[in-house]
Amino acid sequence: MDRGERLALALSSFLLVLFLSSAVFAVVHYDVGLPTCITSMEPFDEGEVIEHAEDRYEVHMLAMKWQFDPEEVELPVGATADFYLASDDVMHGFQILGTNVNLMAVPGAVNYARVRFDEPGEYRVVCHEYCGSEHHEMMGWIIVE
Ligand code: CUA
Repeated sequence: MDRGERLALALSSFLLVLFLSSAVFAVVHYDVGLPTCITSMEPFDEGEVIEHAEDRYEVHMLAMKWQFDPEEVELPVGATADFYLASDDVMHGFQILGTNVNLMAVPGAVNYARVRFDEPGEYRVVCHEYCGSEHHEMMGWIIVE
């Protein structure tokens, strides 16, 4: 093995360790959760907000041309919400600005993410996947107060 190969091996090993350490740090320190496809739940055909406790909510969010159902969700400060996302027609995006929720609404499937809202505010929800002529109008709100 010549000097260049040893250097390349050392550098790539270092980058691999750096990448894995960063991933572990993000999970442990920032409580980063990976978006998950739920296989045990049938796609639903209407949106719903279910209150399980004062600070625990379940939101069934349905994406469709060109809106979200429900269009607005009101939650108290400190609430943890489990978002289940389905699509009524084509692929849509679902991003809650100011949080780490960023999912795809896939026809025939349910995707999932959990988020806790510690700060009051109006969190805009946007569709980030081009889904037709009114894609730019497709948005919603999470109101936390
Ligand atoms: Cu829905 Cu873009």
